[in-house]
Amino acid sequence: MELDITPWLNLAIRWLHVITGIAWIGSSFYFVWLDNHLEEPKEKKKGMSGELWSVHGGGFYHKQKYAVAPEQMPEKLHWFKWEAYFTWMSGFALLAVIYYLGADLFLIDKSKMDLGQFEAIGISLAFIVGGWVFYDGLCRSPIGQNNKLTGIIWFATLVAAAYALTQIFSDRAAFIHVGVIVGTAMALNVFMVIIPNQKKVVASLTAGEDPDPRLGQIGKQRSLHNNYMTLPVLFLMVSNHYPMTFSNPYNWVIVAGIGLVGVMVRHFFNLRHKGKSSPGLVFGAVGLFILIAMFAADTDKRARKAITPEAAAFTDVQAIIGKHCSSCHAAQPTHELFPEAPGGVMLDRPELIEQYAPRILEQAVKSDIMPLGNETGMTDEERALLGKWIEDGAKR
Ligand code: HEC
Repeated sequence: MELDITPWLNLAIRWLHVITGIAWIGSSFYFVWLDNHLEEPKEKKKGMSGELWSVHGGGFYHKQKYAVAPEQMPEKLHWFKWEAYFTWMSGFALLAVIYYLGADLFLIDKSKMDLGQFEAIGISLAFIVGGWVFYDGLCRSPIGQNNKLTGIIWFATLVAAAYALTQIFSDRAAFIHVGVIVGTAMALNVFMVIIPNQKKVVASLTAGEDPDPRLGQIGKQRSLHNNYMTLPVLFLMVSNHYPMTFSNPYNWVIVAGIGLVGVMVRHFFNLRHKGKSSPGLVFGAVGLFILIAMFAADTDKRARKAITPEAAAFTDVQAIIGKHCSSCHAAQPTHELFPEAPGGVMLDRPELIEQYAPRILEQAVKSDIMPLGNETGMTDEERALLGKWIEDGAKR
């Protein structure tokens, strides 16, 4: 038995990450929905600020909100925090398994910056920590009082980070890193602000004191920020499946645009929960999304479009694939890191090259994802030649 542990570790951690992420975002959406639907209580108990009725799964639920705290501590209190912590921990573990262990292949792009593994990991950590320090400082500064301004500055900072990261790392690593910066801010909002403040409120209640209402307000603000960051972060996390978003010379503009679409959609739902209809936001979001798609198609690897080979012979194609792909994609790969053909994709026989043509187009012509880490230095001319062959019908 020869067990290759990395893909199994990858699967287990990713599975956990998706599950805990769903639980976190699910409960967070639910509480935002709840807050936005609360009505003036019919019989007001002291400290009660709103209530609502709902029906789910065969029963009726009656919820009551105490804006700062109830007069007395309930015997049992449920907290929502482990979803957030586990989402972050599993996400970070995934980052480490894929991008740190496999830095040469996934993180570093030698055509942008010739980094060593540890240098690259250091830069990655600096961006993640720096993101939080900046965001938290912004919220605590006088600007933090103004939610809109805070949002705009944070958004602009993330776009700047996206630009910087796309100049340093491989395109898809850059996208994942923007996602990690945002996700880390969200998880630390829970860990460093929301939960500690709630603990302070509980402590003063237990001590029979009046809790400071500011503690709740600060927590609420961070929770609101998290709400608007959710949809952009989800896009960033799945972006790796969509080369047209990151494999573009203006990919940082695409991140900004799609991020904005996410914020607009979230804002639409927040308004809707409060009974305000704003169809303009939906049209705006859909329109912006279409514009981004058009922009991406138009700017897609401009330099390469200028290279237009007259013809492409299959023997040339085979030679290119043999030089840049078959070390990994073969029945018996020679690349030290891949005992088996990655993704089951083998390109060492003519009929297989023909069969995989559409996927070769996605991975190596329209984008630079393959060859992974471009260790063999595949050129734009070679990619254009593969493109020409596929365009002409991918015939042997
Ligand atoms: C260093 C090893 C390596 C080299 C060289 C390499 N690949 Fe890959 N390839 C991978 C790995 C690993 C995957 C698995 C997908 C992933 O994790 O990105 C993959 C996946 C693929 C896929 C499947 C992606 C999908 O989901 O459709 C295609 C197609 C592909 N490679 C084509 C190529 C082509 C074409 C070349 C040469 C230009 C190439 N690869 C060179 C490692 C390599």
